[in-house]
Amino acid sequence: MKAVAAFVAVSAALSASASATPAKRQSSKTPAVEVRGNAFFAGGKRFYIRGVDYQPGAASAQEDPLANPETCKRDIAKFTDLGINTIRVYTVDNTKNHDECMRALADAGIYLALDVNSPNYSINRADPHPSYNDVYLQSVFATVDAFANYENLLLLYSANEVINDEKTPVCAPYVKAVTRDIRQYIRNRGYRSIPVGYSAADVDANRYEMATYMNCGTDDERSDFFAFNDYSWCNPSSYTTSGWSKKVEQYGNYSIPLFLSEYGCIKTDRTWDEVNALYSDDMTPVYSGGLVYEYTEEEAGYGIVQVNSDGTVEELDDYQPLKEKFAEVPVPSGDGGYKPNGGASECPAASANWDISPYTDNRLPAIPEGAKKYMTNGAGTGPGLQGGSQNAGTPSESTATAGSGQATTTASTGAGASLRVPDFNAAPLVCGLVALVSAAFGASLL
Ligand SMILES: *[C@@H]1O[C@H](CO)[C@@H](O)[C@H](O)[C@H]1NC(C)=O
Ligand SMILES: *[C@@H]1O[C@H](CO)[C@@H](O)[C@H](O)[C@H]1NC(C)=O
Repeated sequence: MKAVAAFVAVSAALSASASATPAKRQSSKTPAVEVRGNAFFAGGKRFYIRGVDYQPGAASAQEDPLANPETCKRDIAKFTDLGINTIRVYTVDNTKNHDECMRALADAGIYLALDVNSPNYSINRADPHPSYNDVYLQSVFATVDAFANYENLLLLYSANEVINDEKTPVCAPYVKAVTRDIRQYIRNRGYRSIPVGYSAADVDANRYEMATYMNCGTDDERSDFFAFNDYSWCNPSSYTTSGWSKKVEQYGNYSIPLFLSEYGCIKTDRTWDEVNALYSDDMTPVYSGGLVYEYTEEEAGYGIVQVNSDGTVEELDDYQPLKEKFAEVPVPSGDGGYKPNGGASECPAASANWDISPYTDNRLPAIPEGAKKYMTNGAGTGPGLQGGSQNAGTPSESTATAGSGQATTTASTGAGASLRVPDFNAAPLVCGLVALVSAAFGASLL
């Protein structure tokens, strides 16, 4: 019902604006990104992530860098100078308005890879079960609502580095359940197929298990991509010395996009030679680029710029070499040898480094009862960054049946089977029109 009303209103707005301004509409620099096989595509061409991680103030600051137009525009000028096409943001406030920063990013041809969690609204590594609850999911879904209609939203991270050693795979079923729930929410709300996946820590003991786990089982429970943070290339190094060639071999059959959500070892001076490898023919059949950690200098010492107390930005030693590297290394041409189709991975076998008890049969926790209403009604107003969810609400009380994550409210023509192909039902069409209309309005406002 709502969709029909929106459709009529949008059509009216469209024809009104079409007759008022018959002239050309500026084509977007950030056409929506979609997943095809193990690659991303945008505007019909293979898309490689070439970016930096953007977390001014570090995690402890709990700051939303996309809610402050003054500082985001200051930094977007540097992103343009660096020649990147993507930033990753780790924390946003789902009560704030992001239109101005998101529009400025889009105008600069820059996409956003966004974490839906914040320090106080996240899965608790030390005690995951209680933290997977309805209060938590309401916050996550409200963040999805706040960003889903931006065309330059590239992807959503369902979680970051929750599993960080050989003892924490017990958290993996919860991370996978959250991923399932976000994907279902996106479909139920009629948003376009925004890719959703996990950003894994660089854990040698179980990184591969984690990747195959997130891509095994029924389609509703599989991720749209997998990313990991990789600091194994420390200058001087090479494709083989770093171990990257082995990973390319190991992930050779992986059927969803794979990329580095963080890279940039600081054990030695950074010369960024890994950029050559990352966008070379050796790696493009398996990897789709990556993000340098990180833009601002924080306590950890990975920054490429320093933000001074007066708000000015100063380039650090690693900035110019990275800029030169991006200028030197072209975007790979053609399709990079991607795999257009591939099946689900096999679920990893239990081992000392992979213990997901009590979910050893690879079933997942069911969505918490109290969160089901958001699937039909939407999440409503989010909590922002105040308070917290880890000890709030009511956790999951049962085990899910396979297929429980399929869309439940959109027009269904075999929703489960069509999860990975473009949907042609009415809801995404309406969203497409909304995006088109707001782009037209956006252009005329400027
Ligand atoms: C990839 O798939 C091919 C064909 O099915 C198979 O021969 C090969 O062993 C697989 N490689 C890995 C690393 O799983
Ligand atoms: C986050 O949670 C901690 C611990 O419960 C609490 O002390 C802190 O006030 C919370 N932060 C905010 C911004 O509410």
